[in-house]
Amino acid sequence: MNSKFTTVLLGGAALILAATGMARAEDQLDPETKARVDRFEKGPATIDVSQYPDGIKDNYETFSQKCSQCHKLSRPINSDYALPDEWSRYIKRMMHKPGSGISSAEGKKIYEFLTYDSSVRKKAMLDEKLAKATPEDKTTAETKVKEVHDKYDKK
Ligand code: HEC
Repeated sequence: MNSKFTTVLLGGAALILAATGMARAEDQLDPETKARVDRFEKGPATIDVSQYPDGIKDNYETFSQKCSQCHKLSRPINSDYALPDEWSRYIKRMMHKPGSGISSAEGKKIYEFLTYDSSVRKKAMLDEKLAKATPEDKTTAETKVKEVHDKYDKK
């Protein structure tokens, strides 16, 4: 076989493999996770942040850019997660995925956005989770929510 042709063929194959890499990560989800993320993605894909403080609005931009690269933004928006520690865990998990390109400064902004947003838009869900938590976990979570509000709410 002509070597130029082989190079083109191999290059093409590599491109196809790279392109399907992202899709494959999704295809390999276990049925339970697949059903859960499908349910999350059925909801709205944007959040009305018009009433949020300016800094949180800025963090929403980071969140919407970085967290919609591999799946719909509606996945995190409509997820069952609301506690600060749930968000730090999932953000870290997403940051570790190959090619996510999320710096630790961006991860922090996204954490602050999702913690703030959960305390407003998902308040009922957050309260329900806090009611089920141990007294110690409840205090930890409330402290973390308060830290974000103290940093961003107008005094
Ligand atoms: C590099 C690709 C990639 C990026 C970037 C990414 N995700 Fe994901 N995300 C995935 C994959 C793959 C899954 C499904 C498998 C899993 O949960 O690990 C997923 C699943 C999720 C889930 C559902 C978890 C569950 O099992 O219930 C949430 C919530 C989520 N992502 C939030 C985010 C947030 C928030 C960001 C931005 C910080 C983000 N994702 C950025 C690839 C990505």
